[in-house]
Amino acid sequence: MGAKILSIAAHVPEKILTNRDLEKIVDTSDEWITTRTGIKERHVTKDNEFTSTLATEAAKKALERAGISPLDIDMIVVASATHDYWFPATACIVQANVGAENAACFDIEAACPGFVYALEVGRGFLSLPNYKNVLVIGAETLTKITDYTDRSTCVLFGDGAGAAVLTKSEEDHFLGSYLKGNGKLGDLLILPACGTRKRCSEEVIKNRDHYLKMQGREVFKHAVVGMQEAAVKAVENAGITSEQIDWLVAHQANKRIIDATRERLGLPEEKVYINIDRYGNTSSASIPIALNEMYEKGLLKRGQIIVLDAFGAGFIYGALVIKW
Ligand code: ACO
Repeated sequence: MGAKILSIAAHVPEKILTNRDLEKIVDTSDEWITTRTGIKERHVTKDNEFTSTLATEAAKKALERAGISPLDIDMIVVASATHDYWFPATACIVQANVGAENAACFDIEAACPGFVYALEVGRGFLSLPNYKNVLVIGAETLTKITDYTDRSTCVLFGDGAGAAVLTKSEEDHFLGSYLKGNGKLGDLLILPACGTRKRCSEEVIKNRDHYLKMQGREVFKHAVVGMQEAAVKAVENAGITSEQIDWLVAHQANKRIIDATRERLGLPEEKVYINIDRYGNTSSASIPIALNEMYEKGLLKRGQIIVLDAFGAGFIYGALVIKW
């Protein structure tokens, strides 16, 4: 027995922050943001919207599209770097909100590749006898840990969530994977404080260490190499050739990084789905948001071969080759 994705859905907050809006907040320009990143606008949460709020809406839609009751979900896995609380897990909040009373629930923190990692975790559980349906979610409210006085990061991030229902399947739709970490370079992209190492304090807040810090140029270089490595190895592990790939759906962090990955795989532009212009970098939510849009536009057809590929804080990176 294998596993397959039964349904996909997404939810983003209504409020939109455009590049023009950001021009009024920091010393930046629509032109700089567009040419360096490909981003034009991003969705942002209000104070009363949380990661679990977005995750719940995406989950409800995914369940509806799968045509199964919440009671048939055996496990909920939420991938996020911006959980509602340290504990309880955001997955538990989603469980209560959707009424998935028979489910086990836990979160994973795998930064931007979180959805890729969570799919691999979910499909692993489906190889065990007592799990039939797993709800996998990537959900983020990165704008809540973004420093809007730091122009090098605040233009990049947006909020959103995507959810997939995975189910057991006689034919395995998970064809190949490659997951990897490089923990030596963690300091290049880090939220330095308000963990157990450097607890929240007035000094932390004064130094703005409760916000995400990134050395963008360094991260960029490693992201290009990591995304390429993951995609190539996952394709190798799947035993397919580049010609067989129908879609590359990569983490939407920077259009230039996606272009480099596409070129390494030798794919034409029309086989890559890009929506970074409208969402920015939504970390673990970016791949399911893209898949959801493709589904809603009728671009996803059963049987197509899709490479999912992501890179993020840790560093960690990874790719999956799936059959839709
Ligand atoms: N507006 C105008 N100018 C800016 C801005 C801005 N918003 N931000 C930086 N600059 C300036 C810098 O100060 C610098 O000026 P200087 O040359 O006078 O010092 C200049 O622009 C170039 O800055 P760089 O940081 O070198 O610009 P770069 O071309 O590297 O683009 C970017 C920056 C977009 C952040 C890029 O490095 C990047 O995408 N990095 C990778 C991010 C990423 O992939 N993250 C993914 C994993 S993490 C995750 O997804 C959560």
